[in-house]
Amino acid sequence: MRIVVADDYKAMSRIAADEIEELLLSEPQCVLGLATGSTPLGLYADLVSDFEQGKISFKDVTTFNLDEYCGLGDDNPQGYRYFMNANLFDKVDVKGASTHVPQGRAGDLEAECAKYDKMIEDAGGIDLQLLGLGHNGHIGFNEPCDEFPKGTHVVDLTMSTINANSRLFDSAEEVPRQAITMGIGTIMAARRVLVVASGKDKAAIVRKAFLGPVTPEVPASILQFHPDAMVVVDEEAASELV
Ligand code: F6R
Repeated sequence: MRIVVADDYKAMSRIAADEIEELLLSEPQCVLGLATGSTPLGLYADLVSDFEQGKISFKDVTTFNLDEYCGLGDDNPQGYRYFMNANLFDKVDVKGASTHVPQGRAGDLEAECAKYDKMIEDAGGIDLQLLGLGHNGHIGFNEPCDEFPKGTHVVDLTMSTINANSRLFDSAEEVPRQAITMGIGTIMAARRVLVVASGKDKAAIVRKAFLGPVTPEVPASILQFHPDAMVVVDEEAASELV
């Protein structure tokens, strides 16, 4: 695992965007695994800006997002499909049909999970998976638990995650209680993983996840075993790494 410390959020975003851009240039038909949340916003803005300047194209790229809340449709501004359309997909030349976000309103959620894994497999697997890091060590919506979940599955969100994500809703009561997420197995099967974390409030979990013991109680800690994992943090998030 490589840990890169950037001066600040802007530099962190640039380094992460460069990793993705190098892949887009060397493998224009790559499969990207994408994340939502606040942390990737800067790097998505960098990708959009470089697309606008003609430096990169997404026209042959396939994407799979990590997760989606259960019960939220594609047009719900709090949903992750909406987030991805607004921050990346609608601003670049990716084909809509090549972008995938789990269907949080699928009638049969278990079938949706199995279908999602099959689609990833049929696409040849994920070349690079982008990840943010939850305060409790979650990646995707894989919350701390007793064992590492394998494939895409439905999860009950913890209060820590509901409270952290309530900033994007009118109140914590409105945050859905369940989500569909890729499993740890799905994430670990990606050929490369790229983690971004920023801010003082992530410093403790960055240390625990990447220098502490590997345990399902800190889901991101499994990434220490990934053969090609890069973690890009800003100085604040790195402040407890010694
Ligand atoms: C988002 C996701 C989450 C976030 C994590 C960090 O698709 O799967 O695991 O990456 O909660 O979120 P931020 O970046 O908002 O701190």
